[in-house]
Amino acid sequence: MRIMITGATSGIGYQLAMAYAEKGHQVIACGRNQARLEELVSQSVNITSLCFDLTQYQNYPDLKESLDILIFNAGDCEYIDDSLNFDAKMFERVIKINLISVAYGLEKWLKHINKKGRLVLVSSSAALLPLPRAEAYGTSKAGLTYLSKTLAISLKEHEINVTTVHPGFVDTPLTQKNNFPMPMLINSKDAASKIIRGIDKEKSEINFPTVFVLLMKCFSFLPLSIWQRLASRMV
Ligand SMILES: NC(=O)c1ccc[n+]([C@@H]2O[C@H](COP(=O)([O-])OP(=O)(O)OC[C@H]3O[C@@H](n4cnc5c(N)ncnc54)[C@H](OP(=O)(O)O)[C@@H]3O)[C@@H](O)[C@H]2O)c1
Repeated sequence: MRIMITGATSGIGYQLAMAYAEKGHQVIACGRNQARLEELVSQSVNITSLCFDLTQYQNYPDLKESLDILIFNAGDCEYIDDSLNFDAKMFERVIKINLISVAYGLEKWLKHINKKGRLVLVSSSAALLPLPRAEAYGTSKAGLTYLSKTLAISLKEHEINVTTVHPGFVDTPLTQKNNFPMPMLINSKDAASKIIRGIDKEKSEINFPTVFVLLMKCFSFLPLSIWQRLASRMV
């Protein structure tokens, strides 16, 4: 299979690229960090790379090849510490990489996915509940989950399958900046293997760790006023 992965220079995307290449698949790894991409390519003859900033519409390269799986995984997280002095530029940065860049990629590459192929969008369990300080990150991921689930409906007639991924906390450079407890944290290799297993099983939604996401879903059924009271204690 030929698999394209954005955000392949680090964390979950890196482990996905390595695992698919080890299984003998052709991987197109995308990222901005040229040195990390070169290191990735040097590790397997099955990996080629594309180095560009996903937030720049004009940078998106044309593809010559068709794809069996296209994984939009790149993303970033910044928290809002003072929502009264709302930082619109920061909000824009997060929405641009986590959501708008996916739209750019869809316009450019969706038509390259083979019939019976798969589009995978890596969202977050943060999409399931309003979390403190996550006005930007949570909004981007809730939007991404909605986008993914609507594409799953509209792409059915084109025989393109869609998978939405909701990870809990994964130990990567993205979360290593966090200064709060991260319950049920798993490593990025385990996260990648859970995603690959879910894709192999043709799942439309991949949630992990199961207990963590189940708890998030249970909390989402609470009356909003009760959840808001609980969430405000987390700040
Ligand atoms: N870690 C978690 O706990 C967790 C939980 C839920 C969801 N997720 C989601 O999982 C995905 C991967 O996260 P991660 O934890 O593996 O993060 P990570 O280690 O920080 O990796 C992020 C990747 O995104 C790429 N990227 C970021 N901005 C980019 C840009 N403007 N242009 C091109 N590439 C860009 C980075 O590439 P360069 O460094 O080369 O720029 C890097 O490869 C993200 O969408 C994240 O929101 C993570």
